[in-house]
Amino acid sequence: MTRRSFLGRAWRAGAALGTSLLALPLVRFASWQAGPAQAAVRAGPASAFPPGSRLPVAGQPLWIVHEAGGDLAAVLGRCTHLGCPLESDPSSGGWRCPCHGSRFDPSGAAVHGPATRPLPHAALWEEDGVLWADPAHPVPAGTRLRLEEGGA
Ligand code: FES
Repeated sequence: MTRRSFLGRAWRAGAALGTSLLALPLVRFASWQAGPAQAAVRAGPASAFPPGSRLPVAGQPLWIVHEAGGDLAAVLGRCTHLGCPLESDPSSGGWRCPCHGSRFDPSGAAVHGPATRPLPHAALWEEDGVLWADPAHPVPAGTRLRLEEGGA
């Protein structure tokens, strides 16, 4: 093997290796698919959310509102300004944001800025006495769940 052919082979081998290293991330990117949608959240037994309550779901930015009339709603508890987790605002029956002071009324409407958008509501359903919500599936704010007789 001549020096010239050795250098030619070495150059081609290096180019092939370099191309492979550059192409691998592109192949991975092209074959990337979104993972499964966020799983539904088990809020807990329906009986844990009595009529007239507005309670957070443990470990989730989600609140279950059980109106005195019996209707239920799942409200996402992230501020629509920049996403801070919301706190209950007992004085208004709604929520307040500890980051920049936005306030939301009990329906989730923004009543004090800087947030201007209402809180999203999530799909909510009951199975065998347990409430489930799916934050990945927003529903119109007026959507309510009415439990069957014998429910919570
Ligand atoms: S993140 Fe809530 S007011 Fe800014």
